[in-house]
Amino acid sequence: MTKYIVEKTSDLKGLSRLASQLIASYIDLALDQRERCQIALSGGSTPKETYRLLSKEHLPWNRVDIFLADERWVDINHEDSNSRLIRETLLSNSPASEATFHAIPTTDLSTPSESADAYENKIKTICGGNPPIFDLVLLGLGEDGHTASLFPKTNSLEVKDRFITTSEGNSMNRITLTSPVLCSARKILFLVSGSNKGQALKRMLDSAESPYRTPAKLVRPDSEITVLADKAAVESI
Ligand code: 6PG
Repeated sequence: MTKYIVEKTSDLKGLSRLASQLIASYIDLALDQRERCQIALSGGSTPKETYRLLSKEHLPWNRVDIFLADERWVDINHEDSNSRLIRETLLSNSPASEATFHAIPTTDLSTPSESADAYENKIKTICGGNPPIFDLVLLGLGEDGHTASLFPKTNSLEVKDRFITTSEGNSMNRITLTSPVLCSARKILFLVSGSNKGQALKRMLDSAESPYRTPAKLVRPDSEITVLADKAAVESI
C-alpha cells in the first residue's frame, strides 16, 4: 500500500520555499550516487514560485536533465505551454539555466502521437531502467483528481505498455508520462495548494479510492510519497 507523508505549510509561499529546498536536496542526493540526475516536472500554477526559487539553488545543474511530466499540445510559446512555464521560471536564472532541458516536441510535429513517440524515445535514451527511472517526479493534483495529464475517464489511465502517451484534458490535447513510469520514480513529490483541492487530496490519501475516479491514485512508487499541502488544502479535506 502506498505510504503518503503529508507536510502542511501555512500558505503557498511557505510551500514553495519548502518544495524548492526539498527538490534541491533530492538532486544533491541523486548526484552523490550517479553522474547525472533526471527529474520530471509538472505544469500548472502551483509550482511556479517553487521553480523560481529552485532556479537560484547552487547545484551542479550541468549534470541535471530536466523533463516534463506532461505537456499541452500547443506551440512551445503558447501561454498554456509547460515548456514555456519552465523556460520562464526555472531556467530564467543561473545557475539552473545550466541544466539540460528536454522539452516535449509539440506542434513542430504533425500529431500528438508523433510527439509521444519522439519523447518516449528520448526518455528511453537518457533515463536508465525499464520502465525509465526518474530520480524525482514533481506532480500537481487537479480538482478532479488528475495528475500529470492522466485525467479521469481517458484511455491514458489504461496505458501500461508505453512510457509516454496522449491524453485529453481541459479541452486540450496532451502528452503525459504513463503510470508505469510514475511508479518507477525514485521519489514522488506532490504540491497541493488551495481549498479547491480538498476533495481530491482526501480521495488521493484514501486507500480505498478508485484510481479511475482519482487518477493520482495510479502513482504507486516503492518509496513513500511526499505531499506538500498548504493549510487551505488540508483544512478543506
Ligand atoms: C498540467 C499539469 C497538471 C497540474 C494540475 C494542477 O500540465 O496541467 O501538469 O497536472 O499539475 O492540473 O494544476 P494547478 O497547479 O494549476 O492547480
